[in-house]
Amino acid sequence: MKILMVTSEAVPYAKTGGLADAVSALSIALEKLGHDVRIIMPRYYRIDRSKLEHIPGPMGVHPGYQEIWTGVYTTKLPGSTIPVYFIDHEHSFGRDGIYGVPGETDFNDNPQRFSLLGHAAFQLCRKIQWYPDIMHCHDWAAALPAILLKCTHRQGEFARTASVFTIHNIGYQGVYGKHLYPYTGLGWDQFYSAGFEDWDRMNFLKAALVCADKLTTVSPTYAKEVQRPEFGFRMDGILRYRSADLFGILNGVDTTIWNPETDTYIPQKYSVKTLEKKKKNKAELQKKMGLKIDPDVPVFGIITRLADQKGVSELFGPAYGSAFKMCSDIHMQMVVLGSGEKWCEDELVSLNRSLPNFSAYIGYDEGLSHLIEAGSDFFLMPSRYEPCGLNQMYSLLYGTLPIVRKTGGLADTVENYDEKTGAGTGFVLENLTPQSIYDTVGWATYAWYNKKEHIQKMQERGMKQQFGWEVSAKKYEDVYKSIQT
Ligand code: ADP
Ligand code: GLC
Repeated sequence: MKILMVTSEAVPYAKTGGLADAVSALSIALEKLGHDVRIIMPRYYRIDRSKLEHIPGPMGVHPGYQEIWTGVYTTKLPGSTIPVYFIDHEHSFGRDGIYGVPGETDFNDNPQRFSLLGHAAFQLCRKIQWYPDIMHCHDWAAALPAILLKCTHRQGEFARTASVFTIHNIGYQGVYGKHLYPYTGLGWDQFYSAGFEDWDRMNFLKAALVCADKLTTVSPTYAKEVQRPEFGFRMDGILRYRSADLFGILNGVDTTIWNPETDTYIPQKYSVKTLEKKKKNKAELQKKMGLKIDPDVPVFGIITRLADQKGVSELFGPAYGSAFKMCSDIHMQMVVLGSGEKWCEDELVSLNRSLPNFSAYIGYDEGLSHLIEAGSDFFLMPSRYEPCGLNQMYSLLYGTLPIVRKTGGLADTVENYDEKTGAGTGFVLENLTPQSIYDTVGWATYAWYNKKEHIQKMQERGMKQQFGWEVSAKKYEDVYKSIQT
């Protein structure tokens, strides 16, 4: 099958979160199944043109209101022969930031920018004379092709092209003033019928949920949760209506990057058979973070976007966050790597100052993220909601016991500890409150000091889990096949 992935992020070119990991890894897994997969995304300012090949000639894109001249660059996705096409348009994408400047509000011309990407997807196919069977669109910023196919574009060379829309995170919907709607290139008659209308504003994600041939999301539990008001971010009604077309497919892990036996970022490689070597990474982590080097105190790691989704208010909120109390009362160390909301970064700075057993690094650091996974004893991820989540899976593979809230992909991948039998792969909390985080961390610490055999068995069980992309890619293949004409 010919599959075009339309996305605003893909590693190693542009990333704000797991979406970027998922798109590239899924593409590679599909190529291994024999499919002709290609990726289209914007050429942001930070993506160096001199490392890409230029496809000669300008490409005119017509979103309806004017003609926009773009350039197209290409390269092969590392570890594959997958062509990645970059749409180059200085005015739209030649700036820092994917959706906005980090820490500030989104760019107010995002509807224009991502409508350009959507229309460029069709124009690119014409330019390279390659017409996909499937256009697979990821999240709101890449939603438009699925909408255009349903409304206007399913004709000529695209007569047999079907669309899949994947929800990586329903909390981000692309909602803007409707005066920007004409940039989509669609007529006002489609504003309601395509599902754009949202309390008199326009909503990209909502229209994709209405128009795409099939919908997927990134874990089975999240597929159920989004159909409920607590998790659906107002889209639960549409998703219940479309439930027969909605599939939950768990993301995989790219084990060429996340594998403690081959990880080039960590000082000491190890495996399930040489688990004791993990201690060296712990000592290295404690040293790097300026903590006391002590093998006899459990280290709790956190790597996260500092966003409400991740439970950061309950962890670090100034009035009632649990981190201060945990580090004060419990014999433990806590290591945090994250960036995001300003208030939370400020709190981390203040906790850094006041607690000797707490150390936070504010920023984005790939190498440190690997060291935290390898060097921590536990990994804390008490998300409010989590479509899939990658770090809990990395943690399992690294023998670092995850402590998660029972939601979305976290519920699908971590099995709660049973202190009678020693079963489980981590610690699961039901309710997101500072107290329940505190209690669960206390419970994990108790087990770490007093149930060493159970802890080791859980680590071993986690490290043997299979999170390869092969299984998930086959499930996507089934979805694609179901809409082939
Ligand atoms: P989300 O996409 O919601 O942020 P995921 O768990 O799916 O959550 O993916 C997050 C990815 O981003 C993981 O690969 C994680 O290691 C990485 N990550 C998040 N914050 C940082 C950071 N500050 N430094 C390095 N990597 C980070
Ligand atoms: C989103 C979700 C995360 C998921 C990722 C990749 O960013 O928040 O849970 O793992 O997309 O699908």
